[in-house]
Amino acid sequence: MTVKLFRNAAIHTPVDRGRPAAGSAQGEIAVFAKGTLLTEGGRIVAVGAEESVTARLNRRPDMEIDCGGACLIPGFVDPHTHICFAERREREFELRRAGTPYLEILRQGGGILSSVRAVRAASEEELFETTAENVLSALSLGTTTMEIKSGYGLDTESELKMLRVIDRIRRETPLDVTATFMGAHAVPEEFRGNADGFVDLIVDEMIPAVVGQAIADSCDIFCEEGIFSVAQSRRLLEAARKAGLKLRAHVDEVHDTGGAALAGELAVLSAEHLLAANDEGLKAMAAAGVIADLLPATAYSLRKPYARARRMIELGLPVACATDCNPGSCFCESMPFIFGLAVMNMDMTPEEALTATTLNSAYSAGLAGRVGSLDEGKSADFLLLDAETPAGIAYHAGVSPVLAVYKRGEHVA
Ligand code: NIG
Ligand code: FE
Repeated sequence: MTVKLFRNAAIHTPVDRGRPAAGSAQGEIAVFAKGTLLTEGGRIVAVGAEESVTARLNRRPDMEIDCGGACLIPGFVDPHTHICFAERREREFELRRAGTPYLEILRQGGGILSSVRAVRAASEEELFETTAENVLSALSLGTTTMEIKSGYGLDTESELKMLRVIDRIRRETPLDVTATFMGAHAVPEEFRGNADGFVDLIVDEMIPAVVGQAIADSCDIFCEEGIFSVAQSRRLLEAARKAGLKLRAHVDEVHDTGGAALAGELAVLSAEHLLAANDEGLKAMAAAGVIADLLPATAYSLRKPYARARRMIELGLPVACATDCNPGSCFCESMPFIFGLAVMNMDMTPEEALTATTLNSAYSAGLAGRVGSLDEGKSADFLLLDAETPAGIAYHAGVSPVLAVYKRGEHVA
C-alpha cells in the first residue's frame, strides 16, 4: 500500500470524540503549525508535529509532498443537497428577485414542480450528466463527501431513477455519497389537494420499493405550510423509521409550523433549515441530540433572515452547515461560500464553521467514523488552502481558496 507523507502544512482539524460537537466543543480545533500528515492506502495513519508523525514510519514513504506552509483542513462534507436535477430555473430567480414569494411560484405549478417535470422527462443518462457536472464543480471547491436527495420524481419510478443516478455518482466520481429518499418533497400535480393520499402512496409503495433495493440511507420530508403538515410528516417519518431508514426533515424554512418540535419528538438525525424555528422547538431538538443542518445560502438566495446559529450553539445543538444545492431556492454547490456566510452572516467563529462543514456534517451524513476530521483510521480526505488559517476562507471572499483536493490520499482536483 502506498505510503505518503505530507509535510510543512498548517493543519487545522476538529477532533472526533465519538459524537457531534456541541456547545463549546463546536469551536474546538486541533492546530499543528508545522504539521505533517501520514497516509497509507488512502487512510490517515498519523497527524501532528513532524517528529511525532515521522516516528511512526517503519519504511521510506513512497511519496513526500512539501505543502509549502499551506493551510490543510479536512475535505468539506456537504450533508444536504438536491444536486440531482435535470434543468436550471434561472427565470424563477428573476421572478423571486422582483418580489414573487418562493412558495407562490410552487403554488402556481412552478418551483419544485417544474423540476419534477424536467426530471420525469429526462433519460437516466441525461440526469447523470447534469448531476455529475455540478458534483464535480463541488469537488473542485473542496467537497469530498456529499449527501444527495431524490425528490424531483415524486412517483415511484422517477424517484428510483433519481436514486440510481445518485448511486452511479457514488460509484463513478471520487466523492463519498450518501443517498436520501425525499419522495415527500412536494405534492405532485396528480395529487393536488390530496396530500394525505400522496403520503399513503409514499408509505405503501415508495418506501418499500426504496428499502427493497437498498438504494437510500435516509428519508426526508418538506414539512411546511401548504406542503406537508406536522401530522403528515410524523406519519411518514414513523413509517420510514419502521422500514429502517434514518430520518431527516426540512422544518420551519419559511413558516414556523412547529417542525423543530417534531424533529425533537422523533429524535431525527438532522433537522434542516430552521430559519423560522422557535426556542421551544430548538430546546426539544437539543434534548434529543438532533443535528441542526443550517443552509445559509438558501437564506441568502431567498433573502430571508439567517438561522439563529448563535442561539442554537448556546442551547447545545450541534450545528452543521450545507449548501442545499438545488435549481430553485439555492443554486450553490460551494462549501467555501457556505463557510463565509456562516462566519459573516450567522456570526459563527471560523473554528465553529470548520466543525460545521466537516465533522458535524459528517455526523449528519451518517459517515462520521469514516470522514469529517483528520483522525487516525479515517479516509485521507483533505484540502490545501491559499490561506494561513481557515478564517482565510471567509476573509478572501468570492474566490475559491482551494489549491488542491485530496480524496483517499489521491490528488483529485
Ligand atoms: O431545501 N424546501 C424544499 N426543498 C429545497 C428547495 C427545492 C427547490 O426549490 O427545488 C430546499 O430549499
Ligand atoms: Fe433542502
